[in-house]
Amino acid sequence: MAKVKTIYRCSECGGAEPKWAGRCSACEAWNTLVEERDQPSRSTGDERFRGSPATPAPIADVDTEAWAPTATGIGELDRVLQGGLVPGSVTLLGGEPGIGKSTLLLQALAGLARSGQRCLYVTAEESAQQVRLRAERLGALPPELWLVSDTALPHMLDHIEAVAPTVVAVDSIQATFDPALSSAPGSVAQVRECAHRLVRMAKNNDIATVLVGHVTKDGGLAGPRVLEHVVDTVLSFEGERHHALRLLRAVKHRFGSTDELGLFEMTDRGLAGVPDPSALFLADRRPGIPGSVVAPVLDGNRPLLVEVQALVTHSRIPTPRRSAQGLDSGRLALVIAVLEQRVGAAFHHADVHSVVAGGVKAIEPGADLAIALALVSASAGMALRDDLVVCGEVGLGGELRQVHQTARRLAEAARLGFRTALVPASAPATAPGLEVLRAATLAEAIDLAGFLKADLRDVTLVQETASPTAETVAIGPRLAS
Ligand code: TYD
Ligand code: MG
Repeated sequence: MAKVKTIYRCSECGGAEPKWAGRCSACEAWNTLVEERDQPSRSTGDERFRGSPATPAPIADVDTEAWAPTATGIGELDRVLQGGLVPGSVTLLGGEPGIGKSTLLLQALAGLARSGQRCLYVTAEESAQQVRLRAERLGALPPELWLVSDTALPHMLDHIEAVAPTVVAVDSIQATFDPALSSAPGSVAQVRECAHRLVRMAKNNDIATVLVGHVTKDGGLAGPRVLEHVVDTVLSFEGERHHALRLLRAVKHRFGSTDELGLFEMTDRGLAGVPDPSALFLADRRPGIPGSVVAPVLDGNRPLLVEVQALVTHSRIPTPRRSAQGLDSGRLALVIAVLEQRVGAAFHHADVHSVVAGGVKAIEPGADLAIALALVSASAGMALRDDLVVCGEVGLGGELRQVHQTARRLAEAARLGFRTALVPASAPATAPGLEVLRAATLAEAIDLAGFLKADLRDVTLVQETASPTAETVAIGPRLAS
């Protein structure tokens, strides 16, 4: 192979240097020089992937047939991709180590192979034997699924040419390296160059390509930001390490909206779709517990019924604890402040713990009212009725504000058998089978929920005198007549 010349290009000003240096001599920026191959298309033997030139056409005559997505057969993945993988598209699947990226990819490729697509799974992180063993466990051994374990990019391109697949997966882009560059695998220069060449290969040959990308500790994709710009779709695979639930969302999607959420459960036979997440989240809920409120929250376009729980205890430290798991701690603080200022509750001697059960997050303002009522219910030691859902944003003035798509949220609640909903007065929606109670302010909502002001005057006092057996309070006694 001809020797490839490498240069160092400044990511700020674009200036080129023959040698790496800490500072760009052109614009004097620090740490901006990144290794790059000089004139890559001429020296890398990429000619076979160059493709033919495109022809301009009037926009209405452009054929969209060829861009119809191919379903992977994994329902939750197809939901997020809005149909499946588009030929010639490049998808980046990001997620923390151990979250299940390789498992999802193997299952998706097996699904595509079963439908007659030739798929090539290139693993740069595991041996072919390891992947085969896993595939056996997942029941993913269709004849059209090809497998190779390799880390060098030129070899990968050779394999793709030899197998001639319609779908390729590279696991992972950080473990792929181009021997023509001297920087280490996983470095910015390597990731960028390898991604660029794989994207070019995909586009010129109409091969749907999925790249696995690792994420850094703070959740961003490891490697250059350019990775997100050159691909068509960025999927993010998330979940709590100690929960089986996995969430898949599109961060960027050139073929549809990014509003769909896919839910999986990691089982001993791979990832299983969760078609009815609300039922899963509420499965362990015990009725009659003070501090428990069900809220229909929205993740993307998907309504999820979650259980918001609060515990309010007498604090023995000067600065009481405020803990929020799965909830926005800022919104918890806001709700506490509004309860104190506008409703007359007192939390300054109380530790407050709040969670969303089941490993999901409810960080949108629509969960405010649920947090508030969970706090009130926990403080008063009285449970809300079981068939109640609440949703609404709490404003600083103590007013309740409607949240978007209330109708979808309430429909989901009605589907799961809830009978009563407490919503802001301005919320337009109703749902069949659901009695909708409306409150203009947080104080009104608390009143409608059946709590008296006296229950709130000093929450710590109420806590200490509350009877340990929970008493269920009927909601809306004053409205019922
Ligand atoms: P993996 O797909 O290798 O994660 P990633 O590629 O994102 O690093 O799988 C992650 C974990 O999932 C692994 O630690 C074991 C577990 N797992 C199961 O629980 N069941 C299974 O069927 C498989 C294949 C994996
Ligand atoms: Mg992996």
